[in-house]
Amino acid sequence: MPDLLDRLHTRAPIWSAGMGGGLAGPALTAAVCEAGGFGVLGCGGALPRAEVTRLIEQTRALTSRAFGANIILPMSDGSDVEACFDARVPVLVLFWGDVQPFVADAHRREMYVVAQCGGPDDAVAAADAGVDAVIVQGSEAGGHVRARAPLAETVTQAVRVLGPVPTIAAGGIATGADIATALAYGARGVSLGTRFLASREAAAHDAYKARVVAAGAEDTLMTELFDIGWPAAAHRVLRNATVVAWEGAGRPASGERPGEGEEIGTIGAGTERIGIPRYSVLPPVTDFDGDIEAAALYAGESVARIDAVDDAAAIMTTLMDELRAAT
Ligand SMILES: Cc1cc2nc3c(=O)[nH]c(=O)nc-3n(C[C@H](O)[C@H](O)[C@H](O)COP(=O)(O)O)c2cc1C
Repeated sequence: MPDLLDRLHTRAPIWSAGMGGGLAGPALTAAVCEAGGFGVLGCGGALPRAEVTRLIEQTRALTSRAFGANIILPMSDGSDVEACFDARVPVLVLFWGDVQPFVADAHRREMYVVAQCGGPDDAVAAADAGVDAVIVQGSEAGGHVRARAPLAETVTQAVRVLGPVPTIAAGGIATGADIATALAYGARGVSLGTRFLASREAAAHDAYKARVVAAGAEDTLMTELFDIGWPAAAHRVLRNATVVAWEGAGRPASGERPGEGEEIGTIGAGTERIGIPRYSVLPPVTDFDGDIEAAALYAGESVARIDAVDDAAAIMTTLMDELRAAT
């Protein structure tokens, strides 16, 4: 029986990650879909229901192809999921938590559900809940990371326990050779965050993209530091001034860190601008006005193999050419 990845009919088994806080918006999602991949809209980050609806409508205006919408469950009050249900987004991608309450409602609306998981235990729970595919992270990943082991281990184990439920690999993938390796572990597709963060269409601030391009894997670290808005959740970021000051202060606990309560910048929200406190979970988007070096600069170890900001279509072409050459 054809599974989700067969039904999506993409030219390449390449997904762009639904990077939240506004980073993976309609332009990136649609560009990846139009270039033969599967784009996922980043709706995570406690967006109001009307904003999620607007993002979905904008994406539909840019592409007639199927796309996904990502929701971060610990930051959701349910209204963002409702917006996805109302709009019947083809694929709902859920991260971090129990997906069981959403699967039947999605399937009733003829939507597919994908859970991003951190390893085989999570993956089995999601499969038992009836998801149509599982994205399995490795600890190399950028952004919030549920995985505790590298991709080679998490994907190999997940493929073994998941059986017919397709596994999509995420974490540390930035080239066609990386994709070939993930497919050799048994993954049916791959999901790339950091590589598409360094695309012209990603809605990250230019200075943030420049940091991603300049960085090596050793410039990233796993931490729980940027916790305002989503506490006690590990994430991989670039080491910056906020990280260095916290490390220099002896890594104090939340509430006792250097510069707690300071505003490090503002972002637009509708017709207003809202302040971003130091240690906020929100990344610097295009219109961020403030100190980039103080903000959460999510990025994965794959920064090591990213040398330029390119159009998403050019990234897709390069990845497909490299994948053909590697297989
Ligand atoms: C800047 C950034 C933001 C992210 N935001 C989200 C998010 O909102 N929801 C989510 O499920 N995953 C998010 N992720 C994690 C990705 O889904 C994926 O696991 C990760 O990007 C894979 O590793 P890579 O960055 O090495 O490609 C984010 C990743 C990055 C780099």
